Amino acid sequence: MEENYSLPGEEESSGYEESSDTKNTDFIIDASNPGAIPKFVDELPIPKVLNPVSRENGCPYYEVEMKSAKHRFHRNFKEAATIFGYNGMYPGPTIEAMKGQAVRVKWINNLPLKHFLPVDKTLEDAMDSPEVRTVVHLHGHNVAPDSDGHPEAWFTRNYEYVGKKYCRQVYEYPNQQQATTLWYHDHAMGVTRLNLYAGLAGFYLLHDFNEQSLDLPRGKYDIPLMIQDKSFRSDGSLFYPDNLTPRNQFVHPSVVRAFIGNTMVVNGKVWPYLHVEPRKYRFRMLNASNTNGFTFKLSNGQPFWQLGTDGGLISVTKAIQKFPLDPAERVDVIIDFSGLEGETIILQTEELDLQGNPDIHKREVMQFRVGNKGGDSIPLPQNLRPFDKLEEAKAVKTRRFVMSQEVDGFGRIKLTLNNLEFSDPVTEFPEYDTIEIWELANPVFDPTRPLGIPPNISHPIHLHLVQFQILGRQQFNVNPNKFNANQWITNGGGIEFVSNPVDPDPSEMGWKDTVRVEPGQVTRIIVHFKNYTGEYVWHCHILEHEDYEMMRPLIVIKKYND
Ligand code: C2O
Ligand code: CU
Ligand code: CU
Repeated sequence: MEENYSLPGEEESSGYEESSDTKNTDFIIDASNPGAIPKFVDELPIPKVLNPVSRENGCPYYEVEMKSAKHRFHRNFKEAATIFGYNGMYPGPTIEAMKGQAVRVKWINNLPLKHFLPVDKTLEDAMDSPEVRTVVHLHGHNVAPDSDGHPEAWFTRNYEYVGKKYCRQVYEYPNQQQATTLWYHDHAMGVTRLNLYAGLAGFYLLHDFNEQSLDLPRGKYDIPLMIQDKSFRSDGSLFYPDNLTPRNQFVHPSVVRAFIGNTMVVNGKVWPYLHVEPRKYRFRMLNASNTNGFTFKLSNGQPFWQLGTDGGLISVTKAIQKFPLDPAERVDVIIDFSGLEGETIILQTEELDLQGNPDIHKREVMQFRVGNKGGDSIPLPQNLRPFDKLEEAKAVKTRRFVMSQEVDGFGRIKLTLNNLEFSDPVTEFPEYDTIEIWELANPVFDPTRPLGIPPNISHPIHLHLVQFQILGRQQFNVNPNKFNANQWITNGGGIEFVSNPVDPDPSEMGWKDTVRVEPGQVTRIIVHFKNYTGEYVWHCHILEHEDYEMMRPLIVIKKYND
């Protein structure tokens, strides 16, 4: 995936001079050189929980203002970086909600009119839209369409200009689903990758009585981790590739196919550490990277105890040694530091090399420093929540999709779904309260890399409105002579399977709103379309793909016999 992105070092850097008036008492390093950045010197920040402005009939009402701010990613960076943040914070403030109690949020845009990252005017409507536009989506929430943050419901500062789907300032979150880790982030058409990279993302933790009745670590022992890969310029400002020599200065065709950062940022700090007590902690891990998928594990080989997936608690706590997490996916785990007094443990990723050796390209993410004081006596919770498997036999429809690609007028690869663009006529009209199976075939992979060898090139497919279940995956022959996309889409033919179907990964057996669609495989999911009717979207959550046509409308319609 190194193709199509440039390293920060290659960018013209402002260069820095040692100055005596720097606010940093520490030494200053070149932030564009990841090897020079000291690891585990900044403490992990925990985003503050937001207080409501008021309550109406018991329902909290919040106001959140997006603004430009300065944020220091690392203590040894020369400058604090410009970011866009919710309330000027990055990550944004955490919103805590309770199932059954609706929450209202007024999302306010007070951002500058000019973006500090490279806007590409060739993307959907971008030519005739204001450069800085925003709309907030609460990812994973079952919400009515007018509060879902449709990409065309964007608005600018003071709601001065709005997109064609814009309809309200105050969003209403009903919180009718089970407790889980949701996150809010920007979703504006054609600039989501830039707005999110600039800092527009935050946690929304939904609780319920079942979760509260369990003996789970809570309060300061329940910590959300927003994990992102980012790159920096020498002075510590955010680097995002503006890679291609602009062949057209009017439209500035700068979207890349992939963005891979050279550092790991957790809750806004590069390679942070966290002091922990020798006891159990709950971590809500979110991969909020633009493109990169990771497989996480712990340096001492101990397991994570999984509690939940994207959509909430799984049925029974389970030990997982390592697990993959693509952009937008969440996993809810306990890490037990009991008995590890005085030790340091590193959360790291596993990236296999071409020979299948693990740790060669591993990335370190953050460090846990286990202290000597504290502890707990709570046992690991066993039963968490009953889980109802959706039955395949109840599905009324099967839809088939292919991750397609073409070359655009600027010679860039454009990734699409079923060879359709976002503005093509709607093809997905599931009926309200019906169950469907979606089969997602991904024949798109880099032929220079053998199948199944990272870097990760799966497409994390995300559906708004619903939580679904993964049925499994099956390898097929991606040779263009053996795979006929049109036939596949129309009747499921034109495909040669080369393996038996396999179950979802152990860490994926629960409610999901985002699923890895791996190259060379058909990934099958089962979806119950319920909660609301109306217009939503579904898309690849690689932000560079989502911004450039790998997104489609989804309209849930009322059944005629209702
Ligand atoms: Cu997290 Cu449609 O997005
Ligand atoms: Cu979403
Ligand atoms: Cu994609």
